[in-house]
Amino acid sequence: MSQQSPVSVTEAEVATSHAVAQSETKAAVEADPASPEPPTPHVSVRPAADAQERSGESPSHEAHAQKVKPRIQTVNLQAHFGSFQVLKGIDLSIPAGSVTAIIGPSGCGKSTFVRCLNRMHEVVPDARVQGNVLLDGHDIYADGVNPVQVRKYVGMVFQKPNPFPTMSIRENVLAGLRLQGMSTRRSEERVESSLRSAALWDEVKDKLDKPGSSLSGGQQQRLCIARALALDPEVILMDEPCSALDPIATAKIENLIDELRGRYTVVIVTHNMQQAARVADYTAYFLMGELIEVDRTAVVFSKPANKKTEDYITGRLG
Ligand SMILES: Nc1ncnc2c1ncn2[C@@H]1O[C@H](COP(=O)(O)OP(=O)(O)OP(=O)(O)O)[C@@H](O)[C@H]1O
Ligand SMILES: [Mg+2]
Repeated sequence: MSQQSPVSVTEAEVATSHAVAQSETKAAVEADPASPEPPTPHVSVRPAADAQERSGESPSHEAHAQKVKPRIQTVNLQAHFGSFQVLKGIDLSIPAGSVTAIIGPSGCGKSTFVRCLNRMHEVVPDARVQGNVLLDGHDIYADGVNPVQVRKYVGMVFQKPNPFPTMSIRENVLAGLRLQGMSTRRSEERVESSLRSAALWDEVKDKLDKPGSSLSGGQQQRLCIARALALDPEVILMDEPCSALDPIATAKIENLIDELRGRYTVVIVTHNMQQAARVADYTAYFLMGELIEVDRTAVVFSKPANKKTEDYITGRLG
């Protein structure tokens, strides 16, 4: 369908998602202490978003997701490597400004799923995608849509920090812009604002000409996040961004994700359920190429609707 550019995040939308997040937090704080407590979560979860649960209302993901406009919506998304079907028809709505965690056992299709969201899956020979991925209502797989343009709006951060080793820190931040053929005018401002947004500026501002590879693993990962942010994306996909990092570097990335919430829509693949519980507004559980359950994180970890989800989060599977 359309070749229009996806609609950008309006201030109103950002304000809405902030407002929703704030009102939920407030409601959670104000929840009646006498109301029945939910079962003890298997992992401790973000405090926000469990107010409805306490008040007994249905906490359906759909109802909630509709309150905040979806930034991304997948419709019957299927992915193959040759004749092997990895994703078996995923319908998932990802609200604008939210952080959504994708969890599930190794090989269930998490990486494949996020790679379908910015047209990376198709770069593998023999790989193909069917179904729809709507970004602000526009199908990124429609005829005539340029995958390079899609990747500007939907950035990706990988498991292993991958700065360009021979480039300086400054050049690394600008690398995506150059690859996109975009103007790097006022590049100093862009470098500073991207590094600030990635919570790295203070650590590197005096050595912007040093190679990206001279940074620690955690700093390199934040540099990669800065490189993605420099393109001013709508969505940031993170595929196990902390798996190569120590707990302190991991905490910095998690804090950063928290700061990105609202301004960006973040999808994070993680094997670390504590991490999903700490950072994600929503959690989606995948198993063997199927979406088993998606809901607000507090619900998935304390009252999963599906026994398969419960088996996974309690360690009986995976
Ligand atoms: N390039 C490829 N060619 C063929 N099959 C592949 C390829 N990449 C992945 N697969 C297969 O697709 C399935 C899903 O892989 P994917 O990488 O999406 O899983 P995952 O959930 O991200 O796993 P992990 O948690 O181990 O990263 C697996 O069965 C995997 O073997
Ligand atoms: Mg993976």
